[in-house]
Amino acid sequence: MKVKYYGHSCFGIHTGGKNLLFDPFIRQNPLAKDIDITSIEADYIFLSHGHQDHIADALEIATRTNAQIIGIWEICEWAGNQGHTHNHPMNIGGSWTFDFGTVQMVKAVHSSSFQDGSYAGQPCGFVIRSEEKVFYYSGDTALTLDMQLISERHNLNFAFLPIGSNFTMDVVDAITASKFLKCNHIIGMHYDTFGYITIDHDEAVNHFNQAGKLLTLMQIGQTIDI
Ligand code: NI
Ligand code: MN
Repeated sequence: MKVKYYGHSCFGIHTGGKNLLFDPFIRQNPLAKDIDITSIEADYIFLSHGHQDHIADALEIATRTNAQIIGIWEICEWAGNQGHTHNHPMNIGGSWTFDFGTVQMVKAVHSSSFQDGSYAGQPCGFVIRSEEKVFYYSGDTALTLDMQLISERHNLNFAFLPIGSNFTMDVVDAITASKFLKCNHIIGMHYDTFGYITIDHDEAVNHFNQAGKLLTLMQIGQTIDI
């Protein structure tokens, strides 16, 4: 499985011959200025919630690639109203099997609205079970005991967790989250993009090491095999 980082909370995953894209926010992210958004392949676009720093480029990429948007009901309604009708609505707790694997939509503790203030449904995360790997993409969230429910059901190989604090959990809570998730490999997201969420990379990685966990902080544009 290949994982490519596009900055902030945006990742592309190649698995089972399909391209999955999560929370595209590229054009408005100065740190991602070297990413050519017109070259991004997507068969599916996962949207965790309605905030701009997660959906800003979703419709442009979805329109060009005809990717299917996977999100909570209200986000798919919004995409449909914008003219993109190739969507798969879900809601918290539900699962669906796609051609790349099975997705369970799980709870996130955050807020969610569109830029105009309209309701975007509940924020969510996704657990994805492909033939290669099982992973959790949390979206923006606080630490929550509900993460223990994820490890009741899924044996995660790795997880994407926010670590930037202020708007989401920080490194300390992400380590607790990784314990709740019974997951030893975390890929960090939602840090450095804005002044509120800049972090010390070495300190974050060392914190995880001391807890016996691995934190990967990818370079924007970097691809890793996992
Ligand atoms: Ni948010
Ligand atoms: Mn965010």
